[in-house]
Amino acid sequence: MISFGPLRLRSNLFLSPLAGYTNLPFRIVAREIGGLDLATTDLVNARSLIEKNRKALKLIETDHRDRPLAVQLFGAVPEEMRDAALWLEAQGVSSIDINMGCPVKKVCRVGGGSAMMTELDKTSHLVRTMVDALKIPVTAKMRLGWDDENLTAPDLVRALEDAGIAAVFIHGRTREQGFTGTVNLAGIRSVVQAARRIPVIGNGDVTTPVAAKMMADETGCAGVSIGRGAFYDPWIFTRTQRYLATGALPPEPAFADRIRVMGRHLDLMVEVFGEDLGCVMFRKVAPWYAKRFGPVSGFNKKVVLMSSRAEFHEILADYLPWRAQFCDDQGELLPRFAPPPLVASFMREEEPASATRTAIPVPKGPVEVW
Ligand SMILES: Cc1cc2nc3c(=O)[nH]c(=O)nc-3n(C[C@H](O)[C@H](O)[C@H](O)COP(=O)(O)O)c2cc1C
Repeated sequence: MISFGPLRLRSNLFLSPLAGYTNLPFRIVAREIGGLDLATTDLVNARSLIEKNRKALKLIETDHRDRPLAVQLFGAVPEEMRDAALWLEAQGVSSIDINMGCPVKKVCRVGGGSAMMTELDKTSHLVRTMVDALKIPVTAKMRLGWDDENLTAPDLVRALEDAGIAAVFIHGRTREQGFTGTVNLAGIRSVVQAARRIPVIGNGDVTTPVAAKMMADETGCAGVSIGRGAFYDPWIFTRTQRYLATGALPPEPAFADRIRVMGRHLDLMVEVFGEDLGCVMFRKVAPWYAKRFGPVSGFNKKVVLMSSRAEFHEILADYLPWRAQFCDDQGELLPRFAPPPLVASFMREEEPASATRTAIPVPKGPVEVW
């Protein structure tokens, strides 16, 4: 269906890395629901991997249920990026993604992340050093440029193509924009048009199948990568796949399915991180599922303090009967209590040029301003 160099993929929908969220448990959850093939780890420092730093190794934790997998590296020293990638290749990783979009100071200060977008020659050299050594494909994830005056992504894509990159993921915002304003579909289209051979994957604010189709139609991108939208709704991949194939929009998942999958997610968090840490980490996960539950305040207040799986199930046992007052006989929310439909920034009719609010909440995490 779509190939990154020698890597043939069964879906052109991708999971964007969300550091602190798109870890092994969540990737398994999304894969079990379906529609997703290649998923990417959180970004990890190449040098830390070479040094086999314990935290770095945890960030790339994976297993047989989590295939095919890309590991996202950041770093600016070509030999370090190459050696980390070679080690990952030997571990069975399917592709390496280079982070060129991260606006966080810690990453840019050392010449990684979006600092790479401003230095074409250096970045090309880094990519070539990796590509020459590896059999698996190398991809890059970037923003449109540093700011509106420096929309460098089209030039960068051409240079990276010549250096042997196999695909590019492009978040349709500048570094300066952070997460504010609208995703720029024309900007993504200019990157698609600049690429001569490789697939360009669009990214940014896709929260529904309809938004994914609009991004593909308006930009010509070969695939769509989804981050926060998948955290709201891990069904987005399978629903989008069906929508793109048939033109018919599949219904949203039933509430009972959301509850079942949320419980599965917690079980996997406990399996991978242990009960104490897994439950503490789940405090920031559960409220994302709850965004589609309708009335939810009591649940959220308690779940952000949960410490054990038993406690989670007690919170749920209190919540479910309470929520029934807002539902019909089938257990679905009465329309007046339903959460508003999700609308991507680029699908809103009136978006003032000066808009500063974010279209979707930006989750708190180890990084403040992704
Ligand atoms: C909390 C958080 C963590 C992120 N971590 C990463 C990361 O590790 N690597 C990366 O390339 N992008 C990262 N991003 C950016 C996303 O991959 C994606 O490009 C961005 O959120 C826009 O897509 P979305 O609207 O579908 O979420 C992160 C974004 C957020 C909000």
